[in-house]
Amino acid sequence: MPGAAAPTDLRFEHHPGPALGTGHARPRLSWCVPEAEEGFRQRAYEVELTRGTGAPRRFRVESADQVLVGWPGAPLVSRERVGVRVRVRDDEWSPWSDPTWVEAGLLSATDWTARLVSPRAIGGLDAPAPILRGELTVPDGVVSARLYATAHGVYVAGLNGERVGDHVLAPGWTGYEHRLRYQTHDVTDLVRPGVNVLEVLLGNGWYRGRLGFDGGRATYGDRLALLAQLEVTTVDGTVHVLATDGSWTAYESGVVADDLYDGQRTDLRPTSWAAGPVDVLDSRLDRLVAPDGPPVRVTAVVPAVLVWTSPSGATLVDFGQNVVGWVRLEVGDRDLADEVVVRHAEVLEDGELAVRPLRSARATDSYVAARGRAVLEPSLTFHGFRYAEVTGVPGLRAEDVRAVVIGTDLRRTGWFECSDYLLAHLHDNVVWSARGNFLDVPTDCPQRDERLGWTGDIQVFAPTACFLFDSAGFLTSWLADLAAGQHDDGSVPSVVPDVLPDAPRAAAGWADAAVLVPWVVHQRTGDLALLRSQWPSMRAWVDHAAGLAGEDGLWSGGFQFGDWLDPDAPPDDPFAAKTDPDVVATAHLARSALLVAESAALLGAHEAAARYAALATRVREAFAREYVTAAGRVLSDSPTAYALALVWDLLPTAKQRARAGDRLADLVRGAGFRIGTGFIGTPLVMDALTASGHLDVAYRLLSQTGAPSWLHPVTMGATTVWERWDSMLPDGRVNPGEMTSFNHYALGAVADWLHRTVAGLAPAGPGYRELLVRPLIGPDLTWASARHLTPYGAASVSWSRADGTLVLGVVVPVGTTATVHVPGRPDPVVVGHGAHEWTVPDPVAADRGLPADATVRDVLDHRPTWTAVVEAAVAAGVVDGEARAAGRLLPHLGAPASALVAALGPGALAPVPTELRSRVDGLLAPPVDADR
Ligand code: BGC
Repeated sequence: MPGAAAPTDLRFEHHPGPALGTGHARPRLSWCVPEAEEGFRQRAYEVELTRGTGAPRRFRVESADQVLVGWPGAPLVSRERVGVRVRVRDDEWSPWSDPTWVEAGLLSATDWTARLVSPRAIGGLDAPAPILRGELTVPDGVVSARLYATAHGVYVAGLNGERVGDHVLAPGWTGYEHRLRYQTHDVTDLVRPGVNVLEVLLGNGWYRGRLGFDGGRATYGDRLALLAQLEVTTVDGTVHVLATDGSWTAYESGVVADDLYDGQRTDLRPTSWAAGPVDVLDSRLDRLVAPDGPPVRVTAVVPAVLVWTSPSGATLVDFGQNVVGWVRLEVGDRDLADEVVVRHAEVLEDGELAVRPLRSARATDSYVAARGRAVLEPSLTFHGFRYAEVTGVPGLRAEDVRAVVIGTDLRRTGWFECSDYLLAHLHDNVVWSARGNFLDVPTDCPQRDERLGWTGDIQVFAPTACFLFDSAGFLTSWLADLAAGQHDDGSVPSVVPDVLPDAPRAAAGWADAAVLVPWVVHQRTGDLALLRSQWPSMRAWVDHAAGLAGEDGLWSGGFQFGDWLDPDAPPDDPFAAKTDPDVVATAHLARSALLVAESAALLGAHEAAARYAALATRVREAFAREYVTAAGRVLSDSPTAYALALVWDLLPTAKQRARAGDRLADLVRGAGFRIGTGFIGTPLVMDALTASGHLDVAYRLLSQTGAPSWLHPVTMGATTVWERWDSMLPDGRVNPGEMTSFNHYALGAVADWLHRTVAGLAPAGPGYRELLVRPLIGPDLTWASARHLTPYGAASVSWSRADGTLVLGVVVPVGTTATVHVPGRPDPVVVGHGAHEWTVPDPVAADRGLPADATVRDVLDHRPTWTAVVEAAVAAGVVDGEARAAGRLLPHLGAPASALVAALGPGALAPVPTELRSRVDGLLAPPVDADR
């Protein structure tokens, strides 16, 4: 009679309980069962709802489901709070979960008596940030108080002089013309009997500040405005309401300028700032939506590690980590200059802040007359930086300065560790880039005059994002904006929210975010309702792309980003990839059509499923006909082309697949195990090598530290993922391209492979209800582990090799099963929840040196020999490094190793230095070891 512990982690939609201000009248419920006896299987669950002072009601459901199950009772009404607890049963009921609650926000536009108000004569585009003020008198006996608020611009609310809540840059950024988020704040503790003063500071934010590299301001409108409704309930049940209306007043604040790109200027002189009335604006309240994910908050405070004087005499600060947020100064006791100025940069060049990569973003905060102020920090801006330059603070010390880190406050759900310090550091950098670029929308970068929701970037990063953080609510919100901003013809803006009206709308890999992102979120969270709500958008995009492709099924010509930022593209031409953009485009159409077909099948739309499956087949056949030879070469014979074809199954025959995999591996060898892919190929190339039987080559690519590679930036001191493989050139100078960020997560998409393949923890069914545990062990690592808080609970895989054995440990959450491929064992085993361990012989073969009949390829594959060959060739002056040596050998990989020396030379007619010949001959000679 297997029993279970009390359920924990009750969630409402994608919010952890207690959940304040849900926008769902019937929020779906999820929970974890932290522990259960062996053999436990949930057969039923019971949800108890307590509404108001009424008696609890219980709803019993015979079901094994525990993730995103339907709301069992009557729908919530606006403002209603319902207590919830859950228990589960196999044969016997578990104890009840701890009680929690969910409270509805304002579910209908008619719940708002507030009107959107804007200061009339102050708060203009170049004027100081306005503060809007209203008063409410309440009697004794306050029971509860809520502030519902949103703004055109960003707001910081204060009630009776105390800051309301901990949200930063609220209401965040959505496609304001379609969706405007409001927040629900519990302000019970801030209200007092008598007169209550609500004051709200408004900044330009995304609504009216600069957005996009064209330098535009006031994208959404030129008037800042506030919509706020304070509702205070007293013991007698009376609700006292303060709602923005024409009676509010506005006055200027000391924030004389604020902009997300340029920074904030604050004048702290006691001045009597101008005041004036407000206007009530016409506004559609049906745009209002409650948040789907968590707000932006301060998520960390990082101490400065060093303060020093630069060659030019500037005072510089290093925080040791590239972060997103702002600098906090605590220098109130210092004899400050009239103005304190803080500038920011991600890297240094010639010992000074390198601000060129910020392009036109001034990223400067300043404070006038700050003497005596305990804390100096902005509230209406953010910057991406590791370094700051501070002027006006004599004798600045490291302990006076901190970096305040902000970002969407997503619950961390994924971890990866391993025995290789550089690889583990790369993973940390990926996490930091996700933290920095998940700032209400998934952005490309956080520092320059851009910071936009580029569709392609999150498209490639979504699998990693969903592992590292509980990103479901965050991405649900962004996808709603994508769908809302999609054009009538189905084309998809390149940035969401769409603030670049002239940007392309049908770029493969970017517009495909409409399909690939919801698909990934469904795979990782099991949220079928998300697929359902995105389905019209997904289908519309595929219809549009299919129209562009036409009858022949080939999507060719027209604008494409292609394999953006291929490492071989010159700095000033990121489009100039090795892979033909038509290959990229048709591959994406085949992929998106297939996923739309699979989504349709999951949603029960069988006719549509058949239609899109047929489209996918037609495009796949067209791809093979046009771009694949019978023997398995793929146009443009580039790593990205092979990666797309292999991972997305675009090669019809087994022979073609094998040959394509071999060719991809040879291309990687021929590049000296350096990366050859841009945004499109990078997330796929490791899977392509792995799936085609070239795990060893995959590990060589991953462990490369020379440029370009994943680890090269780590060896250069990177603390986030760079936009370009060489954002910083090997000589320490900043890449001359005008687009050079040091905090761009796209190329960090490889982390998903680390989780799924190095550690071996992957979903095998939606929401990880089935896990696939399949670590593929490489020689470079002695241990690795991954842990993920799946929707069902914590899952983990860890393995370590020592003394000829491998120990594999797997933890499977209650409610799921895992198919485990134990290394070296022929058949997988399926296990239920709990901790499992296997001890098997170490699957990594001992190094047996080169085979007697070695080929040139074998020499490259044998790392010690190859390293020595490269050293010899460099010493002899025939090549300048590994990449060139390997490039020369690419056409000769199948030749006997004895042909290697001749092929290494600069040309057939140039003699190979005799010394090199004898050194290489020595390296290739069979060892004298008699055991072999
Ligand atoms: C962004 C990218 C984006 C690209 C479009 C850049 O400016 O930073 O990450 O995807 O433009 O190709």
